[in-house]
Amino acid sequence: MKINGTYYRSLWLDDDGWSLRILDQTLLPWRVEVLRLSSAEQVAHAITSMQVRGAPLIGAVAAYGVAIAMRSAPQDLDRIVAWLGETRPTAINLRWALARLHARLAPLPVAEREAAAYAEAAAIADDDAETCRLIGQHGLPLLQEIAARKGRVNVLTHCNAGWLATVDYGTALSPIYQAFDAGIDVHVWVDETRPRNQGAALTAFELGAHGVPHTVIADNAGGHYMQHGEVDICIVGTDRVTRRGDVANKIGTYLKALAAADNEVPFWVALPHSTLDMQVDDGVKEIPIEERSAAEVTHLTGPDDAGKLTRIQVTAPGSRAANPAFDVTPARLVTGLITERGRCEASPAGLAALYPDKAA
Ligand code: MRU
Repeated sequence: MKINGTYYRSLWLDDDGWSLRILDQTLLPWRVEVLRLSSAEQVAHAITSMQVRGAPLIGAVAAYGVAIAMRSAPQDLDRIVAWLGETRPTAINLRWALARLHARLAPLPVAEREAAAYAEAAAIADDDAETCRLIGQHGLPLLQEIAARKGRVNVLTHCNAGWLATVDYGTALSPIYQAFDAGIDVHVWVDETRPRNQGAALTAFELGAHGVPHTVIADNAGGHYMQHGEVDICIVGTDRVTRRGDVANKIGTYLKALAAADNEVPFWVALPHSTLDMQVDDGVKEIPIEERSAAEVTHLTGPDDAGKLTRIQVTAPGSRAANPAFDVTPARLVTGLITERGRCEASPAGLAALYPDKAA
């Protein structure tokens, strides 16, 4: 996707052919800064510090982390895969990508691992971009149908499930981009998404760069707009979907799904195949929820009047803060899933019909 006329993917190989380039998402939207990652340690740091984030993207970046490590330590495959797998616990895409690399590389002689790892990482990245484009195609009819009825579509989204969270196009935002490009009058309510503000900072930045009309709202405002008929559809991304269709996503998603159910607003979840975890049934009980630093709740970062990034405290000094980064929306609150293979019910039967090859 484009920023100021330049086409970017959210990751790419450097001209040297082996190190990885990413956009530092902790600096967006204030600064567009490209980072070069040239060691597995730097890759791990980029994931834990959220210079890269979003379930599909961290999977692709971790795959390149393995490839970079294979240059100097191909005999260390098991250790590198296990270690990168610890960087973030909730999104299954990370483990999916690492398992794919491990399955491909483990049977090979060590001398062949580097080249095979780069090829596999590139395949994961290309597959993600194409998958997300297809998610957009399968989500588009939902928006077309509303536009045909009402002349205009108001979508509410939470967190950032756009191209910055994937390799390209995004998941939840992909149908929105396709609708906008097709001339549909679409407007997006962007939840700010405290504590890290991925909505206010990243989704708003992406939509703005593409010219999509949008309004950033406080996380607590969505229910109000739903009660007043101002939201036609919710579309969110996800970090893990279980066999029965429970959905883990950024903290606050569950409350939006509850408000949507109470107001009969359709609540759709967009996901690539790499986000499915058919080994898990009950998302609330079984999906590990990342607990992040309390400092993300107590402090906010933004530019001061001189444009310098500054942190300010927004909570009473001395108060404790807790920071679960994700929550789980039970399948019963999900209208349906939008995938690269089409749309389905959030249920064992719905998922099994679209993904017979993934059945647990
Ligand atoms: O903590 P983050 O920013 O990595 O969380 C991202 C989300 O929750 C996204 O909604 C999810 O990864 C889907 S991205 C296509």
